[in-house]
Amino acid sequence: MSQPRKIIIDTDPGQDDAVAILLALASPEIDLLGITCVAGNVPLALTRDNARKVCELAGRPDVKVFAGCDRPLERALVTAEHVHGKTGLDGADLPAPKMPLQGAHAADFLIETLRREPPGSVTLVAIGPLTNLATALRRAPDIAARIGRIVLMGGAYFEVGNITPAAEFNIYVDPEAAAIVFGAGVPLVVAPLDVTHKALVTAPRLAAFRALGTEVGATVAAWTDFFERFDKEKYASPGAPLHDPCTIAWLLHPDLFTGREINVEIETAGTHTTGMTVADWWRVTGRPANALFLGDVDADGFFSLLTERLSRL
Ligand code: BDR
Ligand code: CA
Repeated sequence: MSQPRKIIIDTDPGQDDAVAILLALASPEIDLLGITCVAGNVPLALTRDNARKVCELAGRPDVKVFAGCDRPLERALVTAEHVHGKTGLDGADLPAPKMPLQGAHAADFLIETLRREPPGSVTLVAIGPLTNLATALRRAPDIAARIGRIVLMGGAYFEVGNITPAAEFNIYVDPEAAAIVFGAGVPLVVAPLDVTHKALVTAPRLAAFRALGTEVGATVAAWTDFFERFDKEKYASPGAPLHDPCTIAWLLHPDLFTGREINVEIETAGTHTTGMTVADWWRVTGRPANALFLGDVDADGFFSLLTERLSRL
């Protein structure tokens, strides 16, 4: 096997964030340099604890976890307890974390790591609002040229919004941060709702997590069971979308996904459309492409990869 790919996960756990972290920790192709936490699904005081709970669940108390921004760049924080529950990880009770929280701010860790590692060698996986990444890019514009790629879960086009009719949650919470990231000139891979809404935890897929017979399998089943109630009711779908693990799955097996290299702009000033990802899917604007915008996934392939990897923990 070639050298594992160095990544940093920026996250607001969130049950689906937690599954993404587990997938990364279970995958030998990935070298997780650290986890940076941001306010999003729940406030920062919870996301930084949740990330450590997940590492301990995976038997990895050695992972470096950093706390970052506790609010968006210019707006009041919007959270999503209506989906993820009061703790962000409702559905399974995990013990309070014992592993330490690192002292540095998440943005400083991002800057220091990107300046230390060879240019292009670090991938950022962003699965929450983009406040930490934007803060790092603002403080140290030189890091943009050193980031290998940003793979993020966020946005929506054909699938429209989940927090407003036009906007997906991660982008809506901090559109100014998203505009900085999408405008940074860094290679971007975007997993919008268009693709994550095809990665549904149906009853047989949930049963497969439970059938692993491990603590990890039981916990992932309990988490997905919890947040399913919301999405099933909202979309009348056979299961909830497992958004954030699509980013890690793309790193492991990009062939499971299809998409287009297109221009994507972030609406920051809309009356009804703030946080919308204006995706030029039909290439009608002539604006240069700045992202690989994913549109489809082999859902069975995705779930067999995920379930097999979780079985290793
Ligand atoms: C995104 O928002 C959060 O609720 C999920 O964790 C995911 O990152 C989906 O819109
Ligand atoms: Ca998330």
